[in-house]
Amino acid sequence: QDILYQEKNRPQFHFTTKRGWINDPNGLIFYEGEYHLFYQHNPYEREWENMSWGHAVSKDMIHWQELPTALSPDELGTMFSGSTVIDYQNTAGFNKGNTPAMVAAYTANAADKQTQCIAYSLDKGRTWTKYSGNPVIDSKAKWNSNDTRDPRIFWYKPGNHWVMVLNERDGHSIYNSKNLKEWTFESHTTGFWECPDLFELPVDCNKGKTKWVMYGASNTYMLGSFDGKKFVPESGKHYYVTGSIYAAQTFTNIPESDGRRIQLGWSRISHEGMPFNGMMLMPTELTLKTTKDGIRLFSEPVKETEQLFSSLNKWENLSAADANEKLKSYHDNDRLRIKTSIKLSHATSAGLSLNGQRLLDYDMNFNLVNGVFYSPQDMTSMEISADIYIDRTSIEVFIDGGAYSYSMERKTDPKNREGLHFWGTNIEVKGLEVYSVKSIWK
Ligand code: FRU
Repeated sequence: QDILYQEKNRPQFHFTTKRGWINDPNGLIFYEGEYHLFYQHNPYEREWENMSWGHAVSKDMIHWQELPTALSPDELGTMFSGSTVIDYQNTAGFNKGNTPAMVAAYTANAADKQTQCIAYSLDKGRTWTKYSGNPVIDSKAKWNSNDTRDPRIFWYKPGNHWVMVLNERDGHSIYNSKNLKEWTFESHTTGFWECPDLFELPVDCNKGKTKWVMYGASNTYMLGSFDGKKFVPESGKHYYVTGSIYAAQTFTNIPESDGRRIQLGWSRISHEGMPFNGMMLMPTELTLKTTKDGIRLFSEPVKETEQLFSSLNKWENLSAADANEKLKSYHDNDRLRIKTSIKLSHATSAGLSLNGQRLLDYDMNFNLVNGVFYSPQDMTSMEISADIYIDRTSIEVFIDGGAYSYSMERKTDPKNREGLHFWGTNIEVKGLEVYSVKSIWK
């Protein structure tokens, strides 16, 4: 047992660093049996400063091993967000024998501008060499802007070239390259801010019908088409996840036999008085499903999270009062998973709270869940389901099978001892299941 992970406010099933600040996940990639999580990191202090790329690896995205800092500040600037790829075809010429290079594209943040740089690793991300020709893109003058950052690179198979999506001013630009070193500007989509991602997903698991998803740091997204050079939006902007999440990114290089699009997001909640600050949310799988409102992005915890949970109790068709009675024995758990679905029969709002904090807050009249627009798919039943994950410092909630999700800081009000509590007049608790959650540190 590592004594470094014993603090009283240490999240028990979310990634945190031993010490220091973290923000955005960077360079998420699967390679040779390992998931790599690089992240914006201040290795020295709890506050945002000295931006470096921290590094951790995992076999299951649940248990992480923290490794030494991967990229540290240099004369071009501090190390801002970016992504990684494996250069199987040696397009950049960094490979050694049969070992393909892992190549990172990142932003060097200097006082006067932000430029894009690359670095490579021949030992599975453990040590890195920065490219001597850096920076590979310097576009401050073109945009008359200091906001040119967060390169998201991937291989575009149909065109046999690399693609970079880059935040430039107030939108996402597309660049192309044959060798990761020389990049040409192709197009720009406005209306997004920081940390771009762009990927193709099947609709309703049908590989023959796909859409491209583009999003920015706030996780608003658009659906559209992409030909390697230009993203053409076919929809307005939508939300699928809100709350404390920011700057989420998806993994690259996941084998086709797996085929999942897996996302990891940073949670902006702070950890007062702890030697570390910030955490990652649970990894989720992203899918596109046809709903009454059109095609929408869904997000649900990856199946690897199942190893954490054991069912403690399960009930059906309870009144709110009975459900509250059953939940009494779980009031003091520092972590818990609760799956529930409630039906409104004569009320305009209802939900579930924990010591007064609303975990589920369904407003039928204004169609809101925890303050965000919610579109019920079945208007005859007035039923809503929630899968709720409570950790020491955070709460994550997935509504209606991942149609919409949100995360928040767990508030600890020492005066409110109400515990877990369903509220709302005449509600029926159609389903209620409580699970214990294993700690990833023990
Ligand atoms: C998003 C962000 C990125 C930037 C990084 C710096 O949270 O502002 O745009 O690269 O954080 O830490």
